[in-house]
Amino acid sequence: MDISRLAQRLAEAGQSHLLQFWDQLSPEEQAELAFELESMDFKEINCFFKHAMEASGQTKQEKVDARMEPVPREVLGSVTRDRESLKDWEEEGLRCISQSKVAVLLLAGGQGTRLGVSYPKGMYDVGLPSHKTLFQIQAERILKLEQLAEQHHATKCCIPWYIMTSGRTMDSTKEFFSKHKYFGLKEENVIFFQQGMLPAMDYNGTIILEGKGKLAMAPDGNGGLYRSLGAHKIVEDMERRGIAYIHVYCVDNILVKVADPAFVGFCVRKGADCGAKVVEKTNPTEAVGVVCKVDGRYQVVEYSEITLATAEKRSTDGRLMFNAGNVANHFFSLPFLKDVVNTHEPQLQHHVAQKKIPYVDTQGQLIKPDKPNGIKMEKFVFDIFQFAKNFVVYEVLREDEFSPLKNADSQDGKDNPTTARHALMSLHHRWILNAGGHFIDENGTRVPAIPRHGPAGTLSPDGSQNLKDGTDLPIKCEISPLVSYGGEGLEKLVNGREFHAALVIDTRGIHEHVKNGL
Ligand code: UTP
Repeated sequence: MDISRLAQRLAEAGQSHLLQFWDQLSPEEQAELAFELESMDFKEINCFFKHAMEASGQTKQEKVDARMEPVPREVLGSVTRDRESLKDWEEEGLRCISQSKVAVLLLAGGQGTRLGVSYPKGMYDVGLPSHKTLFQIQAERILKLEQLAEQHHATKCCIPWYIMTSGRTMDSTKEFFSKHKYFGLKEENVIFFQQGMLPAMDYNGTIILEGKGKLAMAPDGNGGLYRSLGAHKIVEDMERRGIAYIHVYCVDNILVKVADPAFVGFCVRKGADCGAKVVEKTNPTEAVGVVCKVDGRYQVVEYSEITLATAEKRSTDGRLMFNAGNVANHFFSLPFLKDVVNTHEPQLQHHVAQKKIPYVDTQGQLIKPDKPNGIKMEKFVFDIFQFAKNFVVYEVLREDEFSPLKNADSQDGKDNPTTARHALMSLHHRWILNAGGHFIDENGTRVPAIPRHGPAGTLSPDGSQNLKDGTDLPIKCEISPLVSYGGEGLEKLVNGREFHAALVIDTRGIHEHVKNGL
């Protein structure tokens, strides 16, 4: 194989080391490496690196406190403070859905390194009684919402589901959907597309080799969405289908209200081109980004970009002044998305994430560093708020809508399979109570709405073991999304009835598994 031209390109880009083990590679490995390198634009990558490092240097020095303003009340909708409007918004959203104007877009290109499984996060089973995966839960919510919109408006409709994967997750994601017959959705309405990948680099801009013939590649962040929408002509597909509004969300939030009609309806009524769903940040030191205005434009400001004094500021109502916690759950109008893809995308800067990146040394030995040795470059999905002309914010309750799966299970961990499972079961428990149902324990006594704290080793009301002191164990209760999307329609099933945990309500009926045998 003649690699002189490639070697020349690499030399010009200061990346000649990528061929240092060339002679030790098999012909197949050589072909693979050459193929990968041929497809890369090193000038562009070097440019991304330069700009990302400059921007990161600036961010480190400059706190943005003095330029920040909280979200004004007139652009804010809240499920607790605007109760009287909720029904209206929901109806508007259902109307749009019934006209097949709403699509959902799932960000599922992440590597899920913290969770530590080798397959895509959407395929994860958090251990619910039904053992449904995150993908299945979301698919069934879409199906149910289509049914609800159809019932309300006596017309057939469809919510197309666009799924962004990465080079690492595409094949297994597609296979999984095919194996499960798209969970009842029509195959042509589930559209997969792949985001871009970028090489990891050391602090000098040298691309890292993770094997003798293999570059350390990573997806280019969930904001890689906009470039890949352009590359795969997804906006055109949306136009062809008559889509007007898009709900974008992350794969790992087990409580996500996919295509939430109230959120969509609120944004539509407000004439918004871009909207963000938020939950209230209540603890000043919580490491969550907040939606706010900086120099008059909306953006997400990370906890590390402000001083503690600003994070602790409170409004007259006692809430934190900067309390709009970002949960990566967005609304876009199609014209806005199109504008971003066609015009603004190149202006978006990559952010720098310092990582421990395994690499081969000059002898070809694999080294696993114990402290960060380089960077990955990522864009963020919310980087485009700055381009919105009519931005709105919609505040929801964290316990109803946000429980992300980030980490593997550990005793005192957060955002892990146990917390996700508990969050879903607690929500469904509340739905049963709101619909007039009750739980009773083995003695026939009603279980309190908030489960008791039990010392380690004791049994909780649902018969499962308390793992450690003070653990809040929820009642084991799961309601299929095919039965209820958001708690609706349960009265006729549960009102005035008493149940033993574990309780499962699905399309086949109501099942009680008293012996915890699920
Ligand atoms: P996270 O930033 O939490 O990353 O993604 P992750 O990949 O899930 O987990 P870690 O950080 O490796 O442990 C938030 C959302 O953005 C998506 C993820 O799939 C998740 O839905 N994402 C992230 C992408 O779609 N592409 C990316 O390049 C990164």
